[in-house]
Amino acid sequence: MPTPRISVRLARNDDLVAIEALAKLATRDLLGPFLDASQQIASMDFTALDPWLIKDQTYFVIEVDGVIRASGGWSFRGGLVHSKEPVDPTPQMRSTGTARLRAMYTDPAMARKGIGRMVVSIAETSARLAGYTSMELLATPVGKLLYQVCGYTVLQDIRLTACNGTTFNLAHMTKDLTKPQSERRNDTDGRTPTWHLTSNTV
Ligand SMILES: CC(C)(COP(=O)(O)OP(=O)(O)OC[C@H]1O[C@@H](n2cnc3c(N)ncnc32)[C@H](O)[C@@H]1OP(=O)(O)O)[C@@H](O)C(=O)NCCC(=O)NCCS
Repeated sequence: MPTPRISVRLARNDDLVAIEALAKLATRDLLGPFLDASQQIASMDFTALDPWLIKDQTYFVIEVDGVIRASGGWSFRGGLVHSKEPVDPTPQMRSTGTARLRAMYTDPAMARKGIGRMVVSIAETSARLAGYTSMELLATPVGKLLYQVCGYTVLQDIRLTACNGTTFNLAHMTKDLTKPQSERRNDTDGRTPTWHLTSNTV
């Protein structure tokens, strides 16, 4: 078997269609098995990519043999979950030092081969180099499994209500980007608040 050519680069505007197709596929095939039927339908509301991630140059794609097989990135803007336009267009997070991991997708044909872990690492390094000291995110059930092995801990379990009234259980997770892996604490679950959000992008 020939050695695959793997490359990492910043996402461009002309990648948007390919990334949205990837997001749909990943949501259906990799997140779908963790959801019930109505959640599976509503989950497609979450697949549109927030274009600010590309404009801000904080979103990455992984190509294998020239084909985009995974994507993900981080944001310095407000909102763990927000629509195609950010809730607040001003960069909010610089003062707190906390960046936000966003919109992680792997092609189901390449799942469980370590690509998701690679994207997390690239996003963390990019945020760290930009001066951020911690990362937070809202994790889907399958995302939570990935982030736990990447050293993230659960701050709170969160219930999100989609436009059609379907609820999703997500985890608000965090990671200190300044500490070596060996010094991080174990997972600690917290309270379960309810968030009501409509038409959003994870
Ligand atoms: C979450 C996602 C990006 C993971 O991508 P991936 O490339 O398969 O991840 P990796 O291969 O790097 O997995 C790393 C580890 O995460 C855990 N993991 C990932 N997917 C898992 C699954 N379906 N079941 C159990 N553990 C899983 C495992 O510990 C895995 O290590 P292992 O394969 O050596 O056991 C992918 O499943 C996806 O696109 N899901 C749909 C979209 C989504 O929910 N994104 C997260 C938004 S918060």
